Amino acid sequence: MRGRFLPILLLLLPLTATAQVCATLPGDMRAARLHVVGGPDALRVERVPVPSLRPGEILVKVHYASINPVDWKLQEAGRLPLPATPGGDFSGEIVGVAPGVTTFACGDRVAGIVDPRERSGSYAEYVAAPVDAVVRAPSAFTLQEAAAYPTVAVAAWRYLVAGADVQAGERVLVHGGAGGVGSIVVQLAKARGAYVIATASARNHAYLRALGADEVIDYRAVRFEDVVRDVDIVVDAVGGDTLTRSPQVLRMGGRLVSLAGRMSDEVCRSGRIVCPATAPWDVQAGLNGVADLIATGKLGVHIDGIYPLHQITQAQQHNRAGSTRGKVVVAIAGDPVQSASGEDVPAVRLPLQAYLDGHATGGRRHFERAFASDAILVGYKDGRYRQWPASDYIAASASERRPADEHARRRTIRQITVTGDVATAVIELDYPDMKALDHMTLLRHDGEWRIAVKAYHAWTPPAAQAAP
Ligand SMILES: NC(=O)c1ccc[n+]([C@@H]2O[C@H](COP(=O)([O-])OP(=O)(O)OC[C@H]3O[C@@H](n4cnc5c(N)ncnc54)[C@H](OP(=O)(O)O)[C@@H]3O)[C@@H](O)[C@H]2O)c1
Repeated sequence: MRGRFLPILLLLLPLTATAQVCATLPGDMRAARLHVVGGPDALRVERVPVPSLRPGEILVKVHYASINPVDWKLQEAGRLPLPATPGGDFSGEIVGVAPGVTTFACGDRVAGIVDPRERSGSYAEYVAAPVDAVVRAPSAFTLQEAAAYPTVAVAAWRYLVAGADVQAGERVLVHGGAGGVGSIVVQLAKARGAYVIATASARNHAYLRALGADEVIDYRAVRFEDVVRDVDIVVDAVGGDTLTRSPQVLRMGGRLVSLAGRMSDEVCRSGRIVCPATAPWDVQAGLNGVADLIATGKLGVHIDGIYPLHQITQAQQHNRAGSTRGKVVVAIAGDPVQSASGEDVPAVRLPLQAYLDGHATGGRRHFERAFASDAILVGYKDGRYRQWPASDYIAASASERRPADEHARRRTIRQITVTGDVATAVIELDYPDMKALDHMTLLRHDGEWRIAVKAYHAWTPPAAQAAP
């Protein structure tokens, strides 16, 4: 067992003076593998060699990956060279840099997309990625969010901005507004000054309005062409019949772009509507295009569920069922906690993880997402008792700066128990200057989990007390 973890030389490239070797790594890693053509059920978690670097690449220790429909579509269509490690989107930290790469360095937190038709994919503990498919992880995002957004952000930019050239004041109809791509298209269109109409089932209407949609249509109850007309742009993320019925709602000269199908040449050539050419797939253009919106809080990504790597089949099945709200994420580094029942862990873990990540980023928004607005904290720090509202705690804790000793701070979710709409969790904080045990009670209200009460016991370790 230990032999597997004996340090080996990281880079298989001939090491030159310019090569950066950040760490010693295990010789093999856990990865979801596909040995036969098939969907989610065909995936198996196995040990495989850590990928080697080629010129122009970085090696990333993957913290999170995310699921896109293209992942299981490629698997089922037999378009991956077998055996394959599927997956495109990832976030994590750089642990290796090929010679000549100057834009990234060891330790950078990054997000990106790899093409599993060409290389080992992102459902793995390590991924080698070309630098032009990687960006620095947005500091306003958790690493979960950073893994969730790459493909959908690139696609939204590619079709709405580069393809349809959306302009302020235009009316945009988004089919599939609540899905991974649609959620980004709605926010991007809104941020660029458009009037946004989105289709989704009724359960997603409040979500879409929160993203900025001006109108929502329940496609299960209403035919969109009966209630919409003269839009400037249709962005179709659904395809099939939805695509073929779309030209009639466009104004004369309106633009139709589809991520999920191709409009017939006859309709595109009719002169009544325009079918813009599909813009090139450009990861950096897309991710840099949305960077300011993320930094200013105008564009976010909703995480519908988080699964550990060993539940990769369930993660893909979640997305393949066709009703994902936002994205499904896979936790890879530090497989997350199991609940006693095995149920609802993704839903519960999200606000806890937001709380833990809030400590790391200093981000107020992460704390606010984790705590109910009327949450109470009560406990002892170095023997001093305090009871305070979460708003005061957040004001005291949120600095918007990463702590200098972040690398030495450990936070562990020790336990989660879910009973109906109530959950309890135990978290251990182990910092150089503080140790703490937090017991949380969470409540699910309107489908969202929030920490309602945090009882804590915190103390300063003797070594830190002795420090000058
Ligand atoms: N070409 C590219 O560059 C590119 C890139 C990314 C994605 N894509 C493609 O774009 C499509 C969408 O991807 P995605 O990641 O957004 O998928 P997704 O997240 O799995 O989409 C799920 C969403 O679709 C909605 N939906 C299902 N049927 C609908 C209908 N008839 N009308 C309106 N909404 C409907 C669901 O909403 P309800 O639960 O409310 O029904 C759900 O929120 C896929 O075909 C994908 O392969 C293409």
